[in-house]
Amino acid sequence: MDHSATTPVDPLVLDSMLPYFSELFGNPSSLHSFGNEASEALSLARRQVAEIIGALPEEIIFTSGGTESDNLAIRGVIPHDSGKKHVITSAVEHPAVLNTCAFLEKVGHDVTYVPVDSNGVVDLEYLEKSIRDDTIVISVMHANNEVGTIQPLKEIAQIAKKHGICFHTDAVQSVGKIPVNVDDLGVDLLSISSHKIYGPKGVGALYVRKGTMIEPIVFGGNHEKGIRSGTENVPGIIGLGKAMVLAQERLEPDSEKMRQMRDSLIKRILESVDDVRLNGHPTQRLPNNVNFSFKYVEGESMLMLLDMKGIGVSTGSACSSRSQKSSNVLSSLGIEDEYIHGSLRISLGRENSMEEIDYVVKSLKETVSKLREMSPLAGK
Ligand SMILES: Cc1ncc(COP(=O)(O)O)c(C=O)c1O
Repeated sequence: MDHSATTPVDPLVLDSMLPYFSELFGNPSSLHSFGNEASEALSLARRQVAEIIGALPEEIIFTSGGTESDNLAIRGVIPHDSGKKHVITSAVEHPAVLNTCAFLEKVGHDVTYVPVDSNGVVDLEYLEKSIRDDTIVISVMHANNEVGTIQPLKEIAQIAKKHGICFHTDAVQSVGKIPVNVDDLGVDLLSISSHKIYGPKGVGALYVRKGTMIEPIVFGGNHEKGIRSGTENVPGIIGLGKAMVLAQERLEPDSEKMRQMRDSLIKRILESVDDVRLNGHPTQRLPNNVNFSFKYVEGESMLMLLDMKGIGVSTGSACSSRSQKSSNVLSSLGIEDEYIHGSLRISLGRENSMEEIDYVVKSLKETVSKLREMSPLAGK
């Protein structure tokens, strides 16, 4: 129930990777036949990733994952010798974007964090008004990792295009769950991570539209057209390619199955539990995302009790996820602290079943009422 954190590697993905750890171990930069085998496999994976998102193979740069793709996209489009520039992003981005922007501010650039409404959708008017002569990039995620809200990327792309500004999106959570096509969305840069789509960890890709000016943030032997140096993670990249192909093949049945499980879970919890709210957009949300806030209970206590029942979830509450801070995403939606403390994210995957949803509903109801019985605030 925590697939937005990560997913298991699909057995078919694992099978595709295994030979590249052993007999096909060549370095794709080597000119001999061992190198050629690896290089051809890399080309296949590049074509696979490109085709699925409607890109050209030469527009795909392999990276170490979503975090590096986000860093490269945003830092890479700011020319190193250009003086102060302005970046626009949203208040609900993943830390891979927010902390990149915090770094840029530290070294003298300006960043505007566009607010979102109570459903988590960016304020388009605010975004357009924020544009300045020195705005170099707009970075707004496709779908939010905590509350699942899908952003109006096409509208943002139109604004960016009108003003001649480069547009990046973090599509780490949307790939494999909703259609992602770079031309339909109108993006110039798009981040992908393999381990959210049943591929291996530590590998990802950045789509860079042809003609986009981008400079490397990692220097070395000029791999990946000089944009991302470092010997490619061949088995990982093969796994990413295969995971993308499977995600595309299964997109419709998987997302329909997850949508049904999601809607059943939401309906049953909202109907049977008092003082609970659904966070995120009621309809424009990822098919696998559920995010509740329960009043009078701590997210961390729910997480622990559910874990004891064999259910893995996550929470944006203060003492969650080994972080000391409560979720900036939930507070950006204007959710009161008492609800943020009792937040719980359930993120479904293709291997979950309706029987598991029945078990989650039953366990969650039991957990919330048990914790409320102990709470000095509940019922007052
Ligand atoms: C929206 C989003 N962006 C970026 C990342 C980071 O990706 P990775 O773990 O591949 O570095 C994540 C992972 O949680 C994410 O959810």
